[in-house]
Amino acid sequence: MKKAFETLRWAGTTDGVLELLDQRKLPGRMEYLACRTPEQLFEAIITLAVRGAPAIGVAAAYGICLACRQLPDPSPAAETLKTVLKTADYLAQSRPTAVNLFWALNRMTRTAQQVLAANPTCTTGQLKEALLAEAKTIETEDRRMCDAIGRHGQQFIPDNAAILTHCNAGALATAGIGTALAPIYTAHAQGKKIRVYMDETRPLLQGARLTAWELAQSGIEAVLQCDNMSASLMKSRKIDAILVGADRIAANGDTANKIGTLALSILARHFGVPFYVAAPSSTFDLSIPDGTGIPIEHRRDDEVTHVAGSRMAPEQIGVYNPAFDVTDHADITAIITEHGVIERPCTDTIRHCLRQDNP
Ligand code: MRU
Repeated sequence: MKKAFETLRWAGTTDGVLELLDQRKLPGRMEYLACRTPEQLFEAIITLAVRGAPAIGVAAAYGICLACRQLPDPSPAAETLKTVLKTADYLAQSRPTAVNLFWALNRMTRTAQQVLAANPTCTTGQLKEALLAEAKTIETEDRRMCDAIGRHGQQFIPDNAAILTHCNAGALATAGIGTALAPIYTAHAQGKKIRVYMDETRPLLQGARLTAWELAQSGIEAVLQCDNMSASLMKSRKIDAILVGADRIAANGDTANKIGTLALSILARHFGVPFYVAAPSSTFDLSIPDGTGIPIEHRRDDEVTHVAGSRMAPEQIGVYNPAFDVTDHADITAIITEHGVIERPCTDTIRHCLRQDNP
């Protein structure tokens, strides 16, 4: 499925630049930010110019290419490999929760190691080309995974459905059409009528700024609400399903996603609303048995004490600002992946599904 804008793109050959649709400026301005160095990309990731687990992974893969573009050609092979490993370590420090970041960086370092093992005398140019090709493959796979999630997930969106989503797990969060929004876009393309309720998603307003922006362009009916309105919404209006993305899914299905998702999952259980997580296989971390091991990012106090740059809480007030929370796998009706749907996710059903081949 085609999307109306590119979330990120590599412009040029091995000495090209990474262009990111600057999400800090949305919805007011649509501007691309050119990253020429890993340091610029690091800043873009921590300030959420690029965000959403899959998009962070794709961007980080290109970040390795940004490090290599600065290397003179020829450079000693050992020097190039050192740069790749150092850059991967550096970018891995940007955000701790979305596992796609580490997954993509591992793929890039493995590529460098494999190319050098197969041909120790390969030129710097050949190595740069192999790394750019791998980053492009990661991007293409991400698009395909989104499309497949859309195909597998559209069955949960009936005609005239009312769906609630949180944060932004749409086209802005991936190279493709999104994860949680992919089944919605697919169902819409099939002619189904859908109304999407979206939480504004304090403190950084990914729902109000980003999901609202992309849904407004899609022709899908979209309704914005504050985060604290979900219980009232579920009590007073029929919600057919809640659909969210994920930043890291542990082996047993416990799922880290944007702060506030946990509350929605508990409300879903209370009101008997099906609760779906949509995520590609790159978001699973089978090395972590359950959600207690998922590292949670805590962000700056001023994200909570300030709104649009103006202080609205008194000075010296304490602040609690975790960016993510973990939903218990028992409260997830199903996880929608590119391989298919994992109903009642648990260690066995997840292992079984992820053993399948890529779509
Ligand atoms: O802090 P963010 O905006 O990067 O958080 C994003 C989310 O929590 C998304 O729901 C998640 O990454 C899935 S994106 C397809």
